[in-house]
Amino acid sequence: MSALNEEQVLSVHHWNDTLFSFTTTRNPSFRFRSGQFTMVGMEIDGKRVMRAYSLASAHYDDTLEFFSIKVPDGPLTSKLQYLKEGNVLYIGKKPTGTLLIDNLKPGRNAYLIGTGTGLAPFLSLIKDPDIYERFENIVLVHGCRNTSDLAYYEMITKELPEHELLGDLIRDQLRYYPTVTREPFRNRGRVTDLITSGKLFDDLDLPQMDSAQDRFILCGSPGMLADTKTILEDAGFVEGNSSVPGDYVIEKAFVEK
Ligand code: A2P
Repeated sequence: MSALNEEQVLSVHHWNDTLFSFTTTRNPSFRFRSGQFTMVGMEIDGKRVMRAYSLASAHYDDTLEFFSIKVPDGPLTSKLQYLKEGNVLYIGKKPTGTLLIDNLKPGRNAYLIGTGTGLAPFLSLIKDPDIYERFENIVLVHGCRNTSDLAYYEMITKELPEHELLGDLIRDQLRYYPTVTREPFRNRGRVTDLITSGKLFDDLDLPQMDSAQDRFILCGSPGMLADTKTILEDAGFVEGNSSVPGDYVIEKAFVEK
């Protein structure tokens, strides 16, 4: 039996020259947990080219959604960016990944820290009622170079608070903190600097970072992950996994080519 489902592209949205999102049909047998990733790809010159993509849709949605960069000479994304409605994509049947709330110890505040397309798994997590049960405050931090990279801004700030089932929880518990490094914006600076200076917590009117009550989920570039991991470990946070829940979990934002 093949390890891949064939799905049809339902829509494609281009955020800017470097970022786009797409949705596909969902095989009813495909199950995943919020925060996981799976392989996604297409046939290029007679070969299947597959890359890992986080699921950006909610686990209960009828369709699947993915958020991607466009790399001009990337083996997959140079072609994938020209996707059209009706095209066929291959989607791995076995999602996996460590960004699960079950891998975290109980706590008061869940900080979801993403840079670039590292936002993707958080789009799934913030639509999961479970996260609002487990934590009092869910803080979504999205760090980008430019304001045009702040994909899903309208969805997070306008649509989700009006969500039919989750609207009340989202309005009460979800805090969104977009930050930009290379042009003027109301929040400026790298996520790492905002954490070490304490500005992130001050701006949100939340207590300074404390491993007794704060939990972190990190997704982004290898550099951002390494630097944030050092900051957290120095502050006494312990990495969690599926055998031993911890204070933070970490995963690379995959598609780089
Ligand atoms: P900067 O503009 O200062 O490089 P990228 O598109 O390269 O993945 O970057 C996305 C965002 O992540 C940018 O705002 C970038 O800031 C930031 N960033 C890059 N490297 C790090 C790092 N090591 N720690 C924290 N933020 C980082």
